[in-house]
Amino acid sequence: MKTETTIQGLAASLNPARAARKIIGFVPTMGNLHEGHLNLVREARKLCDIVVVSIFVNPIQFGAGEDFDSYPRTLEQDSRLLADVDCDIIFAPSVEQMYGTQPRLTNISVGQITDDLCGKSRPGHFDGVAVVVTKLFNIVQPNFAFFGQKDYQQLAVIRQLVQDLNMPLEVIGVPIVRAEDGLALSSRNGYLSEHQRAIAPTIYQLLKQAEQQLHEGHALAQVLESISNQLTQAGFVVDYVEARQTNLQPIAQFDRNVVLFVAAKLGTTRLIDNLQVDFKT
Ligand code: PAF
Repeated sequence: MKTETTIQGLAASLNPARAARKIIGFVPTMGNLHEGHLNLVREARKLCDIVVVSIFVNPIQFGAGEDFDSYPRTLEQDSRLLADVDCDIIFAPSVEQMYGTQPRLTNISVGQITDDLCGKSRPGHFDGVAVVVTKLFNIVQPNFAFFGQKDYQQLAVIRQLVQDLNMPLEVIGVPIVRAEDGLALSSRNGYLSEHQRAIAPTIYQLLKQAEQQLHEGHALAQVLESISNQLTQAGFVVDYVEARQTNLQPIAQFDRNVVLFVAAKLGTTRLIDNLQVDFKT
């Protein structure tokens, strides 16, 4: 496994594979890797000849007062984990390597779906994601890119971006990996105190309870309100509890598949999760 820190170095490593028409798989990450990320690499490994993982904490997707400075940078540990899942190349550029020293004048804004859910409380976040993912796609030029479904809205934004701008690659969404108690794996779980970590799985428990209630015919609005109330009682500060169609559009007819979304804070740690509830047609 190689680690490249420059765009030129990465190109030199990938050019022979490109010339030999090898299938390149790409897993973009911000590091501090966990089983969720490693699972993306395993999926990439199944489909691709060469697997590239980027590790880059992208400053422009963090808002003021968010955790950019404290975001864990654990390259050595990440490298060991990636070697174990047979990653071929780590791309770990500096901020200067990615953004240069001149001001950036180009922004990328995916409309509509970024105004909703996390976009409301994190203005500019998805623009920052769209810019860095576009840059990374241009640098790596993968055939396939792999993203976790835990960041459901992010995945939808990237799919839209790729479709709208005719980017020549396929985006693959990979199911959420959960801890045994149901908590969706996230690098931010490491911020939780022991007490908060014990409460955190409540989100998934309530999503599963809501799924059952919806199958039993309970009204959607009441089910969402009940999740929100129970989270507050458990000690969360709720950002939103919402339901959308699988394409993130508002629900038109409530007997189709829907996705339930939760964002809530435990102390200063913001957790998100989602669950698709399927209705047989
Ligand atoms: O999901 C993430 O880790 C980041 O948002 C991504 C896609 C690597 C872009 O910085």
